[in-house]
Amino acid sequence: MEPDVKLTKLASCAGCGAKVGAGTLVKMLDGFRTHTDPRLIVGYDKSDDASVYVVSDDTAIVQTTDFFPPIVDDPFLYGQIAATNALSDVYAMGGEPKLALNIMCLADSMDDKTVREILRGGYDKAYEAGVIITGGHSILDPEPKYGLAVTGFVHPKKLLTNSAARPGDVLLLTKPLGIGVLTTAAKAGLASPEAMALAHRLMTTLNKAARDCMVRYAVHACTDVTGFGLLGHAFEMAQGSDTHLTLFPGEIDLIPEALELTRDGILPAGMYRNRHYAEAAVDPGSTELAVQDMLYDPQTSGGLLIAAAPEDAEALLRELRGAVPSAQRIGVVEAYNGGPRISLR
Ligand code: CO
Ligand code: CO
Ligand code: CO
Repeated sequence: MEPDVKLTKLASCAGCGAKVGAGTLVKMLDGFRTHTDPRLIVGYDKSDDASVYVVSDDTAIVQTTDFFPPIVDDPFLYGQIAATNALSDVYAMGGEPKLALNIMCLADSMDDKTVREILRGGYDKAYEAGVIITGGHSILDPEPKYGLAVTGFVHPKKLLTNSAARPGDVLLLTKPLGIGVLTTAAKAGLASPEAMALAHRLMTTLNKAARDCMVRYAVHACTDVTGFGLLGHAFEMAQGSDTHLTLFPGEIDLIPEALELTRDGILPAGMYRNRHYAEAAVDPGSTELAVQDMLYDPQTSGGLLIAAAPEDAEALLRELRGAVPSAQRIGVVEAYNGGPRISLR
């Protein structure tokens, strides 16, 4: 369905590329008085995907929110992508999302039908995920935005953070990279319909199936790959776990058309931001510049980056491929001996 107003024309930046840079936010919070609580086992200071609060021996609450301006013009698809992305942080913690609240900013120029379609997209994905949307809040804003605040649950002992990877772990990634390049190219009419269909399918694929596989195996750490790109999120995992990661760019599934566009110089702004954030910690080896760029590409609703125990990695990858055909083995975790946190080899 084509709305009267092109949704992406109302957006100043695209999807998770709209994310404020890592580090910027932590500095803003410096010096604030906060309560400490031993039950808060993952908080704002951890740069993890969601906060986690233990309520009993077998239950912890996982809370997260994500929203962004339109990344596509189809309002239903936009709603689906925003909801898929918002739910992802709960899956990345090994949790199950249960409740959600709509967060919505509406432009005056949007008609009721467009607004309804965005919400229908959100409800569609919430339903698929087994999540109940219980309400929400909307305000007027010239730049529309949509997303969810999500509450989920996880067993405190089965919680997965991004900071517990161990030397010897095998790194798995569940979706190909290149979403940021393709959505940027699409705004200028430079991406093929086939590539965009793939991008849309990837962005609306819940990380639920990947999560459901992952929790049955020995996995030490997990995060979802979103606005900071693979290398930004991998850097947080390496730093948080005090490990070194070796990634094999040749094994990483880069959407071919996105790589071509990157070689032609179609680079989303978030890619530069992500490079600036993580570059000093990355030894690129002889990796082609465009391939490096792709590893910094901000993903919207990207896949899970999983650090799996070596004895389980093969079986997990096999099962993942049944559920998420694009799952790949992309690297290994090693002990950190100083120097770069990440090497591309
Ligand atoms: Co995340
Ligand atoms: Co998030
Ligand atoms: Co996490």
